Amino acid sequence: MTLRVLAVASEMSPLVKTGGLADVVGALPAALAPEGVETRTLLPGYPAVMAALGHGETVLTDDDLFGGPAWVQHSRVGDASVYALVAPHLYAREGGLYTDADGVDYQDNAFRFGALAWVGARIAQGALDDFAPDALHAHDWQAALAPAYLHYSDRARPATIVTVHNIAFQGQFARDLLASLRLPPESFHMDGVEYYGAIGFLKAGLQLSDRITTVSPSYALEIETSDFGMGLDGLLRARAAVVSGILNGVDESVWSPATDALIEARYDASTLDARAQNRLALQRRLRLDGDPEAFLLGVVSRLSWQKGHDMLLANLPALMARNIQLAVLGAGEKHLEESFLAAQDAYPGRVGVKIGYSEELAHLIQAGVDAFLVPSRFEPCGLTQLYALRYGATPIVARVGGLKDTIIDANEMAVQAGVATGVQFSPPTAEAFALALRHAETLFRDKATWRSLQANGMRTDVSWRHPARHYAALYREAVAARG
Ligand code: ADP
Ligand code: GLC
Repeated sequence: MTLRVLAVASEMSPLVKTGGLADVVGALPAALAPEGVETRTLLPGYPAVMAALGHGETVLTDDDLFGGPAWVQHSRVGDASVYALVAPHLYAREGGLYTDADGVDYQDNAFRFGALAWVGARIAQGALDDFAPDALHAHDWQAALAPAYLHYSDRARPATIVTVHNIAFQGQFARDLLASLRLPPESFHMDGVEYYGAIGFLKAGLQLSDRITTVSPSYALEIETSDFGMGLDGLLRARAAVVSGILNGVDESVWSPATDALIEARYDASTLDARAQNRLALQRRLRLDGDPEAFLLGVVSRLSWQKGHDMLLANLPALMARNIQLAVLGAGEKHLEESFLAAQDAYPGRVGVKIGYSEELAHLIQAGVDAFLVPSRFEPCGLTQLYALRYGATPIVARVGGLKDTIIDANEMAVQAGVATGVQFSPPTAEAFALALRHAETLFRDKATWRSLQANGMRTDVSWRHPARHYAALYREAVAARG
């Protein structure tokens, strides 16, 4: 029997993306279809979303959704079914998805995402004629109030699942917004939406949903500790019986070196020599010396404390004393952007930096670098190291979260056994990272060993097949448990 799932999220590739959340929300519907799950996804009607969707059918209207009229437009994007929540007073703005052009959070984010969750809950309660979901799947804090609205309503509701993509972002707002968010007074309680004296969106979702997932088994365990739980570890320990970790997969229609239109030369595991052309194209693009011998390292990332690039910058002088080059694509915190640009000036031809967002350059870096760096302090899953595996760019990663679960460290035994796919380091310090970089460089200079790391990585199944099966089983189990 087909299971119907309403996914609620604030991003979805290819419509709108700031990070891995979009890739996951964008890939899940097609991955779940063969498992007998029909997914429809509710998204905010940001200008970019509305421009990409064009016209669609209006399936729901609301005269006053937190201060203005709103309606839901149903459209198809390829095989995916999207409900865009059109609410001009909330979403029709210049600037980012969550912040204005200066990077300051919109002061009405509680209502922008409260509205998303509210409408998600209405659809879950059967507000649409042709789609009555069996389960509501809320992604991250922006959607996490939906299970709370359902919990405090008397109407019948489907099963609810909250997925934590990053517990660092929790959505906390002043308690005096309770009534205007249409939450009942009794919800402001330790067992409800209350969180350290404020309203916690993610907290509410974790407290009041039937099932909780996160995006790797290791992160599922880590967030039950005070080091990684960011204040929510106690709640997660109390609810451990319903918490699980399901790894992200790769959308192979987008990330496959054999068919990738965004790279210079296509290749697979048997034609790895063609990577040299991508490497040269990348070196030209970032004004790096066209040196075929240099050990070329790559980064594609949000630039934030989470991702650990300060540890890379700390190691740069030592790296530049050897025949190493660095290609960086990223955007985020100003001081990190400036530090990378300064490194480019200090080491012309050796460090190439592009600050900004570029899907095309992200692909070329994966296809051209020798090793791909992910030195994160914490990483719920991480997608770029999975793309790196597929592209034969050997990942060098911190041993945390999803990085720990997806990369097999090239220790002596793993190399001998022929199973290694990358290099891990721990603890997440500049010193440990330095050792990993030296180890990787030694492996790189041994061509046969390096080739086997690349081949092992490219053979690794990082598709959505396994994760999709897990999600489908979890949905069915959660639905069955509601009876
Ligand atoms: P996170 O979601 O924490 O940022 P992930 O590794 O899960 O980390 O996903 C990051 C996604 O965003 C990947 O698809 C990556 O290629 C992409 N990405 C990050 N920064 C950039 C950038 N500057 N330009 C293009 N793509 C980027
Ligand atoms: C978050 C995490 C990242 C994960 C992504 C998609 O942004 O930081 O590790 O891969 O969500 O789940």
